[in-house]
Amino acid sequence: MINDKEIYLTDIRNASAYIKSRIPEDFSPEICIVLGSGLGPLASDVTDEISIPYADIPGFPRSTVPGHEGRLLAGKLEGRDVFMMSGRFHYYEGFDTSVATFYVRVMALLGVKTLILTNAAGGIKEGFKPGSLMVIKDHISFFCESPLRGPNLDDFGPRFPDQSHVYDEGYVTKLEECAEEIGIELFHGTYAFCRGPQYETPAEIQALKLLGAGAVGMSTVPEAIVAAHCGMKIAAISCVTNLAAGLSDKPLNHQEVMENAAKVSSSCCALVKRFITKI
Ligand code: HPA
Repeated sequence: MINDKEIYLTDIRNASAYIKSRIPEDFSPEICIVLGSGLGPLASDVTDEISIPYADIPGFPRSTVPGHEGRLLAGKLEGRDVFMMSGRFHYYEGFDTSVATFYVRVMALLGVKTLILTNAAGGIKEGFKPGSLMVIKDHISFFCESPLRGPNLDDFGPRFPDQSHVYDEGYVTKLEECAEEIGIELFHGTYAFCRGPQYETPAEIQALKLLGAGAVGMSTVPEAIVAAHCGMKIAAISCVTNLAAGLSDKPLNHQEVMENAAKVSSSCCALVKRFITKI
């Protein structure tokens, strides 16, 4: 939770000023892409890039997860200026949600208007298999401590923000069109946040299924809440790396999740690249 608003705001300004000092003056991307577990390969497609380790940015936490490299890239992807977060921060690592989403505020201050979130997720919806892609149309945040808890940052958004349209509907349509153009099957659905780090139980997955969840994961929702609070437009894609607990006869393991993420990453990367040429 945000304890001291002035300290939090100063940290955001300092981080933003530091990043500005590292990039050319006339470079101001309006798009930030966040790479989920195993989706790192997209980082190698960024050209003319400046790479800033998170450890160098004042106030940035340090990612502790293997597969989350921990650097901010500023460069070009498909001819568009972008920021790319290679590595993100999770509640399960021990970060408060206001810390895990600190970077979103920094991006807002740097002028980012569109946040593209990707994640690895467990598939719940009928017909999903490892490798399926799901565009997120809505989320279930019941198990997520609100990153907005504490004093409101009035300069960014209101105390009680509406959550009816967190994920931009135009972006959903655009992603569906892009998927069709490049011959990728794209499902749509609701993403449920679970705190982790333990995977869910089969009973929890059945409960989430009853609630209408299509996929489950341990990221994205805190970031989407903050980005929406900042007035950003959000597109989010889940890469199904495994069937959620109890939906297959195999126990879940992180190694398999990472291997499947690497397999699905090429279609997810292709989709993101196409998408950014259309927005
Ligand atoms: N549950 C939660 N998070 C995940 C999963 C899952 O099954 N797969 C990848 N991330």
